[in-house]
Amino acid sequence: MTPSNEALANLLTEDRDFPPDPAFTEQANGTQELFAEADADRDAFWAKQARERITWSKDFDTVLDWSNAPFAQWFVGGELNAAYNCVDRHVEAGNGDRVAIHFVGEPGDTRDITYAELLTEVKKAANVLTSLGVNKGDRVAIYMPMLPETIVAMLACARIGAPHSVIFGGFSSDAIRSRVADADARVVITADGQNRRGKPAPLKAAVDEAVTGDSPVEHVLVVKRTGQDVAWDDQRDIWWDEALSKADAEHEAVPVDSEHPLFILYTSGTTGKPKGILHTTGGYLTQAAYTNSVVHDLHPESDVYWCTADVGWVTGHSYIVYGPMANGATQVMYEGTPDTPDQGRWWDIVQKYKVSILYTAPTAIRTYMKWGKEIPEKYDLTSLRLLGSVGEPINPEAWVWYREVIGGGKTPVVDTWWQTETGAIMISALPGVTTLKPGSAQAAIPGISVKVVDDAGQPVQKGQGGYLIIDQPWPSMLRGIWGDDERYKETYWSRWPDIYFAGDGAKLDDDGNIWVLGRVDDVMNVSGHRLSTTEIESSLVSHPKVAEAAVVGATDETTGQAVCAFVILRGDAQQEDGEDLVTELRNHVAKQISPIAKPRQVMIVAELPKTRSGKIMRRLLRDVAEHREVGDVTTLADSSVMDLIQQGMDDDK
Ligand code: WTA
Repeated sequence: MTPSNEALANLLTEDRDFPPDPAFTEQANGTQELFAEADADRDAFWAKQARERITWSKDFDTVLDWSNAPFAQWFVGGELNAAYNCVDRHVEAGNGDRVAIHFVGEPGDTRDITYAELLTEVKKAANVLTSLGVNKGDRVAIYMPMLPETIVAMLACARIGAPHSVIFGGFSSDAIRSRVADADARVVITADGQNRRGKPAPLKAAVDEAVTGDSPVEHVLVVKRTGQDVAWDDQRDIWWDEALSKADAEHEAVPVDSEHPLFILYTSGTTGKPKGILHTTGGYLTQAAYTNSVVHDLHPESDVYWCTADVGWVTGHSYIVYGPMANGATQVMYEGTPDTPDQGRWWDIVQKYKVSILYTAPTAIRTYMKWGKEIPEKYDLTSLRLLGSVGEPINPEAWVWYREVIGGGKTPVVDTWWQTETGAIMISALPGVTTLKPGSAQAAIPGISVKVVDDAGQPVQKGQGGYLIIDQPWPSMLRGIWGDDERYKETYWSRWPDIYFAGDGAKLDDDGNIWVLGRVDDVMNVSGHRLSTTEIESSLVSHPKVAEAAVVGATDETTGQAVCAFVILRGDAQQEDGEDLVTELRNHVAKQISPIAKPRQVMIVAELPKTRSGKIMRRLLRDVAEHREVGDVTTLADSSVMDLIQQGMDDDK
């Protein structure tokens, strides 16, 4: 199933481009030469990145061992410690007084933590874990809100060679139970609660429920955040603060093999049991640090960096914890939601801390678009010099809005494509080098080989679409699915020999830029014409009255599938006559893409069902569009959204 060229041709109409500003190029970490260097000798290129960016306690002797493909070994024979690289060495280099984390709590409390202070905390926490019987190789589950202690907990695990499994703080107790069981974790680190939308929300309660009965968990370490009442088991539960206050402040980081597991991170997966994506130490850290340097253009001595992701997702692992900290960054960490106490919260933080690099998701950008540019315009955002996007395709309209309204019309915007599985950024513009095209992720970064192929696995021509694949191993690639080698081979490597299938559709434009079209499972087939949900969404969002849109393919007797769109209107359009507006939007899509893409149905809704990481759950919308009972809603950020949408459908009938 490759997206049709007809549909693809329409996205090619985006012709705005933004060449690099020479002043930015002058100071940029990324250079044109990096491409040439990597092309000349990929292994030598990565060996250089590994040696220059990472401190090894024992140098490696082989760059890549791919003899047991698809199980890669990178920097074979090398030994290092990720926590040492993220903390100790910055203190040893005389940067102990540099702020590592500007923490902003939702209620307004703030804390600045230097690298020296962080080091003491990480050492104490490592000693606490050791005292609880956690040894090198043992797994530790972390179920935490956005707190500095979450970072301390992760680095403490890394320090003793205990792989962590961070479980996003919005998951249910069932999700915790299955993940803890799958990883066989004996210790869980959590907090009493977290601040969400001005109220304390419980956290430990879910862990309590998840570890009762048959569970491998022996101890639960509890950070006090909200001070709310919690149930307590004296045998099992330990207050983090009490344990750390008694712990020795000295600890030697344990050197581990380059291929020693650093963490497991579960991805939702469309069906069945979640996949525990396994990442190891040397290659992961190298690519996380490298990409944070050349793609985010981090200059640790002068930048204030802010990645708004939750630490519970891979973006938080790679671009809050391991990449920026290996590079010695000063970063902002914010606990709460963007509209607490008001919709200017993020911009207030940018202004206060003079944030210079902001990395966020298209869904957040579109939300801010919906709220109106008057809000960010009230703040001084001139400190920003680079903006990044990750997680889903960014519509050209949102891209341009981001650059104009947030970036003052001057900052590069890098759209970065990667996955939990890839561990770090794979496709992106290099700021200062690449001429930017709004809506395109552009090209593989130096050292990475990505292609767009057809059903036969053959590269497509420029102007055509197909599947996004990776045809050379890369340092931060997943090393497997925890405990399930077969599933790893089957899921990612079985479609074509020696090719990693990412699951996304993409197209190449005439300049060879890559446009990621979204998951291939979101590609629709309407009357034999293949259409991308993303493309139609993009068209709807380009209409001045639309704030957000989600499109699904619903089964249709006549056409195979039919396009069903769910849209959220911008403020002033909400008063308009629904029927006229629906006609207008359908015609708009027909005109912009093709009559084939014209939605059979346009539903005006107040909210869209999203996962807690901001991804639209099209599966649920498909259920609604096909008049089925709505499936599992446990991963929705707000499960009442589905009731509202269904009510709207029923009223419409
Ligand atoms: C999608 C998040 C288009 C894609 C880092 C991928 C994107 C999935 C982009 C991975 C982007 C991520 N443009 N699509 N810049 N970035 N995606 O594992 O479908 O949460 O396969 O990793 O998100 O999501 P994950």
